[in-house]
Amino acid sequence: MAFLSQAVGRIRPSATVAVASKIAEMRCAGKAVISLGAGEPDFDTPAHIVAAGHQAMLDGKTRYSPAPGVLEFREAIAEKFQRDNNLTYSPDQITVGCGGKQTIFNACLATLDPGDDVVIPTPYWVSYPEIVAMTGATPVFVSCSVDKGFRLDPEDLAAAITPKTKWLILNSPSNPTGVCYSKEELLGFVEVLRRPENQHVWVMTDDMYEHIVYDGLAFHTIAEVAPDLYERTLTLNGLSKAYCMTGWRLGYAAGPLGLIKAMNKIQSQSVSSVSTFSQWAGIAALNGSHDFIATHNAAFVNRRDLVVAGINAIPGLSCPKPEGAFYVCVSCGDLIGKKTPAGVVIENDEILVGYLLEAEGVVCVHGEAFGFSPAFRISYATSNEKLEHALAAMHRAFGALE
Ligand SMILES: Cc1ncc(COP(=O)(O)O)c(C=O)c1O
Repeated sequence: MAFLSQAVGRIRPSATVAVASKIAEMRCAGKAVISLGAGEPDFDTPAHIVAAGHQAMLDGKTRYSPAPGVLEFREAIAEKFQRDNNLTYSPDQITVGCGGKQTIFNACLATLDPGDDVVIPTPYWVSYPEIVAMTGATPVFVSCSVDKGFRLDPEDLAAAITPKTKWLILNSPSNPTGVCYSKEELLGFVEVLRRPENQHVWVMTDDMYEHIVYDGLAFHTIAEVAPDLYERTLTLNGLSKAYCMTGWRLGYAAGPLGLIKAMNKIQSQSVSSVSTFSQWAGIAALNGSHDFIATHNAAFVNRRDLVVAGINAIPGLSCPKPEGAFYVCVSCGDLIGKKTPAGVVIENDEILVGYLLEAEGVVCVHGEAFGFSPAFRISYATSNEKLEHALAAMHRAFGALE
């Protein structure tokens, strides 16, 4: 439609949000669906956090908040950075957004113009390239192949950087691969960024899954391991995943003051501010007990092991063992080209997940949405019982392909 902007023409709708709408539609129509598509924990927001949000409403904390966020929340975030990451940020260097997604959006809009490049390792979280493209800048993909364990090779990173590169986006633990970089691996990327020809490149590190890490691995973030990159790092995080607060819409970012001020300017002219009582709930989340995280992670790790073993036992599918987050990236190349019992040729991963949905009511997200094909993503943030049903359904559906 000629009336629409070039910006909207450059982007695709979020595949993961589309999947959520499709599930709601199917359930409304009375169909039984097992969703392995949602990027959110199946656990409820912990009661002490809900109580704090409720109390905030009763206390009249129902008006606009300052654009950068409630000061007490930014103070709690500053303490979190000091406590968990050994990073010193003043509340002025912190901005609160409507979920991690909006902080990424604000950062991109504040820094990118047509002609700029952003380096994005693949597989990537679905929204990075679309947000970058919306600004008119160009996403530049660096493949992290399955034989490299989906890990970014520092020399591949070096090869992708040009004078036009503004940002490298890092996401560890990763959605969709679950890769969690060690301190040594991060230092490998740092070595590339420290080279004289790469001094103009900034790092946007998306630490959304910081607390969802398994097998005793330690989480690290780039400004912590390389203090000399502090001045060109934006550290992003949020409460959606580990605190089971997806609907509260709380994300935040910390970085150099000039960048944060520019992000706040955009915020002030777009959403104004994040819901005030959500931020008060966020204070309770950051300052309160974190014991529930270990309980949730114990459930997640158990589900991960169930899914990884189940997938690798299905002919035609394979996946490595993720180290964090709650997703498994499943390679399905051997199934491409086969035919369904109805005679439909499985030409790509989108057709494959469509077939699984039609045949068995099991929802996964096709790999192409994450820049990695042929593959699909499973979210194992659901009960063991549902996961077992879904794995059996995949066995049946994929076994029926000819
Ligand atoms: C890697 C990553 N970053 C950011 C987000 C956005 O989170 P939020 O719901 O807080 O906007 C997600 C959500 O799926 C994610 O997986």
